[in-house]
This record gives sequence, C-alpha cells and structure tokens, in this order.
Amino acid sequence: MSLDKKKKVRRVPKKNTNPPSVAPGLLQGNTSPSRDAYQFFAPCYDQTLAHVQWPRWSQYLLDVFSQFSHSTTATIYLLDMACGTGRLLENIASQTIGNNPENQGLGQWQFYGYDGSPAMLAQARQRSIPALFCQSKLEQPVLPPDWPAKWHWLTCTHDSLNYITDPNDLQGHFQWAATHLDTQGIYSLDIVSEENLLRNFDGQMRVFDLGPTRLVWRNIYHQADRLLVSRLLFRPRKGPVQEEIHVQRYWLKEELIQTARKAGLTVLASHGNYEARSRRDQDDLWNFHFGHA
Ligand SMILES: C[S@@+](CC[C@H](N)C(=O)[O-])C[C@H]1O[C@@H](n2cnc3c(N)ncnc32)[C@H](O)[C@@H]1O
Repeated sequence: MSLDKKKKVRRVPKKNTNPPSVAPGLLQGNTSPSRDAYQFFAPCYDQTLAHVQWPRWSQYLLDVFSQFSHSTTATIYLLDMACGTGRLLENIASQTIGNNPENQGLGQWQFYGYDGSPAMLAQARQRSIPALFCQSKLEQPVLPPDWPAKWHWLTCTHDSLNYITDPNDLQGHFQWAATHLDTQGIYSLDIVSEENLLRNFDGQMRVFDLGPTRLVWRNIYHQADRLLVSRLLFRPRKGPVQEEIHVQRYWLKEELIQTARKAGLTVLASHGNYEARSRRDQDDLWNFHFGHA
C-alpha cells in the first residue's frame, strides 16, 4: 500500500520493535478461515487512502493496455483481482465508458472484480458502476460459472499480490492467470519495493482521525523473512477497540518474473509508481505487465 507521506508519522518506540508473534494461519494469505482481515478497515479504506491518484493510475494502465493488448474482440473482459472497494474499476469505467477521447477506440467493456474480503466487496457493491463482484482468493481463484472463461485484461493493484506469502501459492496464482488469460491479453500488477517497506513502513506508526474512529496503524518489517506485519487498531469513540493484522511478503522482482515464466507468462513491460517513464529500485510500487510467452 502507498501511504500518504504527509500524514502524522511516528517511529514505534524501540521496545515495540521485537517481532510480533504472527499466528501461523496469518501467513497463508491475509485471512484466517474464520475472520475477514479487512472487516474493520473496509468502511474507512477509501478515506484512509484518499491520497491515491486513481485517475492517473487508471490512465497509465489504460495506456499500457492499449499499447500491448492486440485483442481484436468487440468486448473487453476486465477482471480486477483483489479489487478491494472497487476504486480501480470505477476509475477505469469512468475513463472508458465515460467517453474520454483519449481512450476511444478501445471497444466495449465488461467489468468484474473479486476479493477475499466480504467487507471490502460490500463497499465495492455500493458503487454505481456496471461491474459484477464475487468473493474469491488470489491463491486459487474460483469464479462463478457464468463469468468469462478467458480474460482480455487481468489486474491486481496496490500491492495486493504481496498478500500471497507462500511461493507455491504465488505459483498457483500465476498458473491460474496463465490458464485464464486470453492469448492476446495482458496481466497488469504491482508489487511493493523493499525500499518502500524500509522507508515508509518499518517501525512506523501512523494515526488517522476518521470521524468517529481513530485508526492507529503500526508496521514492522522482518527483513530476514521479508514479511511486513501491519497491526491496525480501530478506536471508536464508543464501543470496543478492534484490531486487524495484515501480513505481506516482499517478493524480489526476479522471483516474480521466474514464477510467472514457469506458468508460461513473460514480461511485456515494467515501470514504477504507475509512471511509464519511471523504473527505479527505489520506486514505492513496481509495475509489471505480463502476456503469454
Ligand atoms: C491493499 S488492498 C488493495 C485493494 C485494491 N486492489 C486497491 O487497489 O485499492 C488489498 C486487498 O487485497 C485483498 N486480499 C488480501 N489477501 C487476499 C487473498 N489472499 N485473496 C483475495 N484477496 C485478498 C484484501 O481483502 C484487500 O481488499
């Protein structure tokens, strides 16, 4: 996730920097079987991350898509994986079916999204966009039978892929993507850079005053295991304090590329921070676009 660097940042005191005990189940994706790890974050997710420049991100993605997708189909099927509250789909919809002259000629669109969190999906479904949503996991997606079997564009943004922490699960994810990506389709994703984790997350605490709730967000990065553990504490004015723990893994660029290659996908383009001109190790997010090898 990219955090707003203007927000109040505090270093977590030294005594708190011991590795927190992470429940083993949390290392298998972000949700334990019985609990939605985004349950409390979902209603305030968009407000907390209001600084994200969605129109710019969407236009960058559309530019890459129009450059690399050679699909001649009349209707483009787009599936946003780990779609969260549906911000990306909303922006892409407004820039395509909203008749933005820059994107004319890209065809008709049908929008779909899945996410592991029912609470995030509940937010997405409140948007007035022509999109279908379902609950599924990144590791091995299972989609409704009446959804397209092949996708012209797969997306997975805002370091969602970093929630996969196991190499076999990452392999399973790419295997699914390769099987279900149209021969001319592209898969656009981003992953977090280690410099971003060290610079903006490790040992840092941020406080967000979200109307009736105060969110205290603490992060510890375990460099040896390449795991970021984020503890989000929601303190409502009334009622009990709630806590969520998110665990993400930093993937090396080479690991990502090799895992995709094993599944039969190759890199068509790579950039940083949703800018075609940028491609630096210190970029917060690394963008990759894969197609069939
Ligand atoms: C940082 S949010 C990004 C949401 C959205 N892609 C965006 O760009 O705003 C990460 C999302 O990944 C979802 N997620 C995390 N682990 C997942 C998994 N294993 N399977 C499916 N979704 C997952 C969370 O529920 C959350 O909505």
